[in-house]
Amino acid sequence: MCGIVGYVGKKPVKKILIDGLRELEYRGYDSAGIAVLQNHQFSLFKAVGKLINLEEKAHSFETTGFSVGIGHTRWATHGKPTELNAHPHLGNNSYVVHNGIIENYQELKTMLIGQGTRFLSQTDTEVIVHLFEFHLKTAYTPFEAFTQTLHELSGAYAVLLVNASVNDTIFFAKHGSPMIVGRNHEGETLFGSSDAALIGKCHEVIYLEDGHYGYASVEGIALFDDKNQAVNLNFTPLSENKLSAQKEGYRFFMEKEIYEQTTVLSDTLLGRLRDESIHFEELDPKLFDGINEIKLCACGTSYHAALSASYLLERHAKIKTSVEIASEFRYREPFLTPDTLFIVISQSGETADTLESLKMAKKFGLKTMVICNVDNSSMVRLADASVLTRAGIEKGVASTKAFATQVCVLWMLSLFLANERKTLDATEIRRQIRLLRALPATVAVDPALHEQLRRLSKRYLHGHGFFFIGRDVFFPLALEGALKLKEISYLHAEGYPSGEMKHGPIALADPELFTIALLPQHKLYEKTKSNIEELSARDATICSISPLDFDKADDHIRTKSTEDYMLEFFEMMVVLQLLSMEIAIRLGNDVDMPRNLAKSVTVE
Ligand code: AGP
Repeated sequence: MCGIVGYVGKKPVKKILIDGLRELEYRGYDSAGIAVLQNHQFSLFKAVGKLINLEEKAHSFETTGFSVGIGHTRWATHGKPTELNAHPHLGNNSYVVHNGIIENYQELKTMLIGQGTRFLSQTDTEVIVHLFEFHLKTAYTPFEAFTQTLHELSGAYAVLLVNASVNDTIFFAKHGSPMIVGRNHEGETLFGSSDAALIGKCHEVIYLEDGHYGYASVEGIALFDDKNQAVNLNFTPLSENKLSAQKEGYRFFMEKEIYEQTTVLSDTLLGRLRDESIHFEELDPKLFDGINEIKLCACGTSYHAALSASYLLERHAKIKTSVEIASEFRYREPFLTPDTLFIVISQSGETADTLESLKMAKKFGLKTMVICNVDNSSMVRLADASVLTRAGIEKGVASTKAFATQVCVLWMLSLFLANERKTLDATEIRRQIRLLRALPATVAVDPALHEQLRRLSKRYLHGHGFFFIGRDVFFPLALEGALKLKEISYLHAEGYPSGEMKHGPIALADPELFTIALLPQHKLYEKTKSNIEELSARDATICSISPLDFDKADDHIRTKSTEDYMLEFFEMMVVLQLLSMEIAIRLGNDVDMPRNLAKSVTVE
């Protein structure tokens, strides 16, 4: 959701901060700000809207020589997106930037107001800087005041704080929201809430753990854990390849990431396919001992991957599988049994509802696993086991390659378990492994198909709504296609089981109702075909996607003929991704940063 950057060093600090914030734009924001401390003097710039507004405000500001600086892009949670609510937040002579939510901020604010503190903003964050200065009056050192402040905060936070009396230092803390510390070749320190902000600026990083806090100064970094014990600085190398996070000639990150699916799926499969079996080196087979049920839990696109997987896990591994929307699961007092393996699926590994569901499952004593795209994310560090999707940075807010790799991993997991539980014979497992090996080629974008979809998109810019319909795994794929269209074109779309249309929705059928129909050759073809014909007979406008011709459709997108419905699934996925993107481009929308959305929803 929000982005944090920080710097301690001799370089021109404004450029470092703003360039870092620009790499975090994809996370979604509505205001931004930087604060720089040099020679005990602060300079502060904040602006609502895009970074260009902040750059305007700081246009004539430059530094030479040593300074410390912090920056932030804010996605409004407490308080409207205004300059006053933008970070950094000011005390008397301290500034703070913060990601997360301080759950006890009201009581702290009341106490501080009772002590005479005047608040300028509506945010929870401002509490941090005033509480710090409250403790500063009695603490021996500013760092002790910072430590005392942290002990009183509850909730999720990633914090950078600077104070004029310690001219060369940034205090930092991490609990529940991501924070990374980086070091460059000059031994200078940088901070980022995602390593995207650090690529090309430093060569080694530390992914902070919950409870980690400390300070970075001209002498270096002091790091402590939640038991106040000093922690060794174990840096890991950071990719210098900034290009991997850039557009590489595509119009949007989303387009790049759709085209990238063919390569990232190869990475996802790497080392995991044997001729006769699936191999997850990161999984201890004992994890599945005593497991008779799987519960999948996720949000949004990841939920659609989970729903797709539920068909495969029951079909291949003959294991009872249920799927939960995380924001519902958290509050419905679920009945859980200890023989259930709780699997959360998350691209970011930071989605608040999914993370809290994971914590709930752990509290119930369930074995837990996460399927995630971000190593060292909160969920990866919390779950008993994790399988990384290896999709690389996904900067488009509308998830594409992350979804593809999630379904791929879950398909492999269904076969892994089928092998462990002897529920599929060796021949069938070998056959499906062959299908998996064909995945990268299956999702490679055919330029002619892309051009057809680009042309077709002009016909689907209006109308009073879309139905995306499918059966079996093509129902969650229909849900995903509808979500892709909604989130980047802002047109109304609904995913529906095609067999359900006659139970009400068909009342909407008319020429203005666009139905995108998924019609796979190898899964319930006849059943689905008759559902589409019912709609066509009532004059709905049909766009069918199928390897077989279908004369009842107004538009038909012919996919390649393949041997199995799962390959059809992945090919149709690419069609839906490209179609929604081309419609959104025609509508002139910001495909990578759609309105109202954030890449990672780290608040409820
Ligand atoms: C998908 O296109 C959306 N950006 C959104 O639904 C996303 O899938 C959801 O917020 C879950 O995010 P996660 O996978 O990082 O947990």
